[in-house]
Amino acid sequence: MNRGLLMGFENDMTQTIATRDSLAGAAIYTKTALKLYDFWVHGFSNHYLWNCPTEQLHAHYQRHTSNNHLEVGAGTGFFLKQVPFRVLKPRIVLMDLNQNTLEVASRAIQHYEPAGILVDILSDTMPTLPKFDSIAFNYVWHCLPAAPARKEQAFRHLASLLNKDGVLFGATLLRQNIPMNPLAKAVMTLYNQKGIFGNNADSRASLESALAANFSRYEIRQEGVAAIFSAWK
Ligand SMILES: C[S@@+](CC[C@H](N)C(=O)[O-])C[C@H]1O[C@@H](n2cnc3c(N)ncnc32)[C@H](O)[C@@H]1O
Repeated sequence: MNRGLLMGFENDMTQTIATRDSLAGAAIYTKTALKLYDFWVHGFSNHYLWNCPTEQLHAHYQRHTSNNHLEVGAGTGFFLKQVPFRVLKPRIVLMDLNQNTLEVASRAIQHYEPAGILVDILSDTMPTLPKFDSIAFNYVWHCLPAAPARKEQAFRHLASLLNKDGVLFGATLLRQNIPMNPLAKAVMTLYNQKGIFGNNADSRASLESALAANFSRYEIRQEGVAAIFSAWK
């Protein structure tokens, strides 16, 4: 990992920049959980719970990821490591509230020497960074433990980090007015009770309103429980 841009690893900024509530949505990602993550989320859940084939999300990354890219909510780097970058050394910055995910995702794409930043996307301020041509925000919004109106702040921060012609893209699992099979309903209820998800109030309308407030143009496509979105300034 490129330590030049790295913030927070040495002095544990999580304590200073994360709100207590936000921590719940990231706390589940221990090193052990991350070993199971790709199988459970992208191998099983997308297909059998959320009815959103993982290939749809792959295609979204292939379409939009640029050589000047910010990955918000790094996870294991599952999608990023499969993107065919067209230059040897793209600029990639990983942003997450969890040090484990930053480390695991950084290792997955270490040949690109990504930078990592430990930041809560719901905090009041963002670090000052040169802007990006693409920002991925995939499967993070539904983890944020707040009402949609408060979570809109995440899109406001991300819009401020995006170049004029850049694109923000990702997907989020909605809860309100979304048909789901009984197992999916039970898992989503449990995740919300445990604080792993914070999407009890999330609907297509609330996502749309958060995007509309921060971008001049956006697209949302419903694929099962997942809303797959792209947005431009
Ligand atoms: C469900 S995982 C998604 C990982 C990856 N984007 C993917 O699609 O596989 C959610 C990620 O968002 C991060 N996260 C959760 N809350 C966050 C917050 N408030 N600020 C920044 N990152 C957060 C978690 O640590 C985790 O890496």
